[in-house]
Amino acid sequence: NWEVGDLVEEKLQEIRDTVKEGKVICALSGGVDSTVAAVLTHRAIGDRLECIFVDHGLLRKGEVQEVESYFRSLSLPFRKVNASELFLSRLKGVEDPEEKRKIVGRTFIEVFEKEAERSGAEYLLQGTLYPDVVESAGIPGAKVIKTHHNVGGLPEKLGLKLLEPLKELFKDEVRQIGKKLGIPDELLQRHPFPGPGLSIRILGEVKEEDLEILREADYIFIEELKRWGLYNKVWQAFAVLLPIKSVGVMGDVRTYERVVALRAVDSSDGMTADWSRLPYDFLDHVMRRIINEVKGINRVVYDISSKPPATIEWE
Ligand code: XMP
Repeated sequence: NWEVGDLVEEKLQEIRDTVKEGKVICALSGGVDSTVAAVLTHRAIGDRLECIFVDHGLLRKGEVQEVESYFRSLSLPFRKVNASELFLSRLKGVEDPEEKRKIVGRTFIEVFEKEAERSGAEYLLQGTLYPDVVESAGIPGAKVIKTHHNVGGLPEKLGLKLLEPLKELFKDEVRQIGKKLGIPDELLQRHPFPGPGLSIRILGEVKEEDLEILREADYIFIEELKRWGLYNKVWQAFAVLLPIKSVGVMGDVRTYERVVALRAVDSSDGMTADWSRLPYDFLDHVMRRIINEVKGINRVVYDISSKPPATIEWE
C-alpha cells in the first residue's frame, strides 16, 4: 500500500525536523499507540530515543515478559523500571476508583520523572491519537481517560516539549503504519488496557492476593478467546474481581468464595459499546476452567451491560 509508505516517510521526516539533534524519551506500555510511536521515532532518530517501561505491578499474567520480548524483537532501546512495591504500597487501603486512578497516575509521573531527568531528553514522545485529542477537548459524555497513559501534566513540569507524531491519526491508520514498520500483528491487535491496570478491575482495595486471583482468571479468559478465534472479534475483554462471596458446592463440600465477572465488548472507539454475544459453549468452557483452576473463585458471571448506561470498566 503506497499511501501508508508515503505517510511513514512523511512522519519520519517530520520527527527529524522537529527533534533535530535532540534526545527523546517515552513511556512504553506495550499498547499499540505507544509502541508504534516509539518504533517510528526509533526509525527516525535511532538511539537518541530512550524508552522507559514502568512495571507498576498492576499488569496481567505474563505481560511484563510478553511486552519485553516484543520490545526486544523490535530493537527498541528500553529500560524497565520495576516499581511494583511502590505502587502497591501507595494503593494500600484505598477503595475509591478515582482515588486509585489518581494515585497510579501520580506515582507513575514520579517514577518517570526521575528517568526523564537522568536521560537529558528535550522531548517527550507520546502516542496520542486524534480521538484522544478530541476527548480531552471535553466532548460531552467523554471521560478524560488518558491522564495516566499519556502522562498528563508531565511535559510542563519537566520542561519537556511534546512529540506526538500520531496526533492526527485514527487507530486503524496507526495499525497500518505499525504493520508497515514490521510490528507483529499480535501486538497490533492487542486489546486496549487501561493505564491504572488491574487496580480498577479489583473492586475496592487492591490486595496482592487478589491480584493473583484476578490474573489467573483473566489469563484463562483471554487464552480461550484466542484459542476459539474470538480475541480479534471483540474490542476488549477482561475479568473483574468482585468484592463479594457467594455459596457454592464442590464435590460434597460447601464453598464460600469470590465471584469473577467476565466482560467482553464490541465497540469502535470505546465511547459506546455493546456486550459481545460470545457463544454459550465458549462461556461454559471458560466458566468451568476458571472455577476448577482458580483457587478462591466459585462463581463466574457474564456482564451484559451496554455503554451507556454502564461503562466498559467496572470502576
Ligand atoms: P470506560 O470504562 O470509561 O472505558 O467505558 C473506556 C475505555 O477506556 C479505558 N479506560 C482507561 N484507560 N486510563 C486509561 O488509560 C483510565 O483510567 C481508564 N479508564 C478506562 C477502558 O479500558 C476502555 O478501553
